[in-house]
Amino acid sequence: MSDRYVVFGNPIAHSKSPEIHTRFAVQSGQDMHYERWLAPLDGFATAVRDFIQQGGKGANVTVPFKLEAHALADTLSERARAAGAVNTLHIVDGEIHGDNTDGIGLVNDIVVNAGWALTGKRILLLGAGGAARGVVLPLLTQRPAALVIANRTAARALELAQQFGAQGVVQADEFAQLQGHFDLIINATSASLAGDVPPIAPTLLHAGVLAYDMVYGKEPTAFMQFAAQHGAAVRDGLGMLVEQAAESFCIWRGVRPDTTPVFAALRAQLQA
Ligand code: ATR
Repeated sequence: MSDRYVVFGNPIAHSKSPEIHTRFAVQSGQDMHYERWLAPLDGFATAVRDFIQQGGKGANVTVPFKLEAHALADTLSERARAAGAVNTLHIVDGEIHGDNTDGIGLVNDIVVNAGWALTGKRILLLGAGGAARGVVLPLLTQRPAALVIANRTAARALELAQQFGAQGVVQADEFAQLQGHFDLIINATSASLAGDVPPIAPTLLHAGVLAYDMVYGKEPTAFMQFAAQHGAAVRDGLGMLVEQAAESFCIWRGVRPDTTPVFAALRAQLQA
């Protein structure tokens, strides 16, 4: 029987993970099966136990269970501990190893796919929720000249900056105070889901800046449209989605898939 993998979430019907991992498996000749698992809102731990009981080898975890997965794991990677959240479970001898591949997915999409080196650059991270927290350590690992975190609720940005102070040059600022040059501006707020743009000065966006939205969709997000109007290069989060999946696949199977054709197929589908 094929090795079994799932993605836990609620809701889960929209998840593109089964398609991504099935494409990776076919491409690399891995004998595995990957499907969705709708866990009850109050039944995540039971669902994981059932899955392990059935011989499951690994899982992705999405909204709203990433914090619970962090609590449930028997062991945690350094990046999962730093993120305070887990999106990848690897089951080895009945033990649950928790990892978080979201941040490295973002970094690989920016550095490898977009060809935008981060070392020595100034990065502005918008947001201080779960999505932002998950990417701070992997961004700092690239040794940027500075990482500035800004959030609508300023205290959350300050807390995040303080948590990672020992890992690199990281500071908090307020949306209205932001000034100076940033090479990369990452929107990790959920504002795009409501069609909103974080209130930053348009002068931060100009040619030579990459404006990255962790959200993706058929159309460019409101943030990407705002950034493009002011001359910035823009990129959405579809590549991050594919890259975080590739990293999970690598953890489970020891094989790094080629993300380029999978990204292209997903983009074509989105725009069909
Ligand atoms: P996620 O897991 O997607 O990060 P979250 O933890 O609820 O979700 O965090 C949402 C983030 O988006 C927060 O940084 C939030 O700002 P607050 O901390 O002030 O709530 C930010 N956010 C949501 N809507 C926003 C908007 N319209 N403008 C700016 N920031 C917004």
